[in-house]
Amino acid sequence: MPETNFNFDVLPERRGTGSIKWERFPEYTPFWVADMDFASPDCVVEALHRRVDHGVFGYAAAHTGLIESVLDYLSTMHGVEADEKDLVHLPGMVLALSLACRALCEPGDQVMINSPVYYPFFKVPADAEAELIDVPFTRDETTWRFDWDAMEAAVTPRTRILILCNPQNPLGRAFSEEEIQQLADFCERHDLVLLSDEIHCDLILEDDQPHYSALKLPESFQKRLIILMAPSKTYNIAGLGYSFAVIRDPELRRKFNSARGCTVPEINALAMYAAEAAYRDGEPWRRDLIEYLRGNRDLLAEFIRNEIPVLKIHEHAATYLYWIDCTELDVSSPVQFFAQEAGVFLTDGTPFGSSRHVRFNFGCPREHMLEGLQAMKAAVDRKLASI
Ligand SMILES: Cc1ncc(COP(=O)(O)O)c(C=O)c1O
Repeated sequence: MPETNFNFDVLPERRGTGSIKWERFPEYTPFWVADMDFASPDCVVEALHRRVDHGVFGYAAAHTGLIESVLDYLSTMHGVEADEKDLVHLPGMVLALSLACRALCEPGDQVMINSPVYYPFFKVPADAEAELIDVPFTRDETTWRFDWDAMEAAVTPRTRILILCNPQNPLGRAFSEEEIQQLADFCERHDLVLLSDEIHCDLILEDDQPHYSALKLPESFQKRLIILMAPSKTYNIAGLGYSFAVIRDPELRRKFNSARGCTVPEINALAMYAAEAAYRDGEPWRRDLIEYLRGNRDLLAEFIRNEIPVLKIHEHAATYLYWIDCTELDVSSPVQFFAQEAGVFLTDGTPFGSSRHVRFNFGCPREHMLEGLQAMKAAVDRKLASI
């Protein structure tokens, strides 16, 4: 039984609302950028109404209710205790990745990432004139893994940061405790800071693969740890702009903050009230969302395996994003193929590190998702019939 009355089957009209997803390429049906085609939970919308009704929107600071709800969320959802002073409130996540690079790298230093990965990971080192070291994941029949030997071979004394995306966008992996510990060991041996982007951590679809936050690593590791979290993906409030870092080490926190210069704007007053409400009262909605997304994910995987077998997929445990291998489709640009032949706009894998992949966003009503998949199947069938 659902815990809330929320109807995930309703597709909101988003055209004409200033939506990047729906309005940037209006001629196609969008399954690309990472926001969901669901309204946010009532608790969030009501909190926004209350704040709007106040009518005054001057510069805003993180208020007590927000701080309490973030600390409580960390404790109840992730089993980690943090202190108010460990929190750095921010108007977004990507800017925090950039801040960390600028705080910790001199020109010519290096930042390690593992691709395929969310495309700004490739770009933020350049903000610090640092060099990128990409050590791609390896793939077996079912999943993707860190290439530990290649990472050992690639790391140098100039490497300062390893940026982790956990759960992983676009691979849909939730890394295990063992993998995070192995990463921590790698960072410790090579004197790296672990910059852990955990924005998708409340979107785990497999109960037996719970999120293992890097915040659970031992006390001795905290001096080399910056974690980033946000309610934005889970509660579909990315357009409001609020995220936070947890940095327990005072010196690391000072360095991170001092890299701000004049580059970081104040946080949107409404965003912080939405975040407070999401973390404090949104959990029943989130549980229903997870059930719904799991149903979509299973249907999508079954559809692709049975109806479009030329596309290849691997196991998926987290996020509402599915990484699809189009190698055997044998087209020069899969994203253009599906746009032109199916009228469906997906995320291009190229800036994530693979031009042979597309990413399908299944955070939407089921019927709508199926229409997109049917259109993709018809386009693939036509192509295969013409060979
Ligand atoms: C892993 C990851 N980090 C960060 C972001 C973006 O965060 P923000 O919009 O707060 O910069 C996304 C959005 O898709 C993401 O997938």
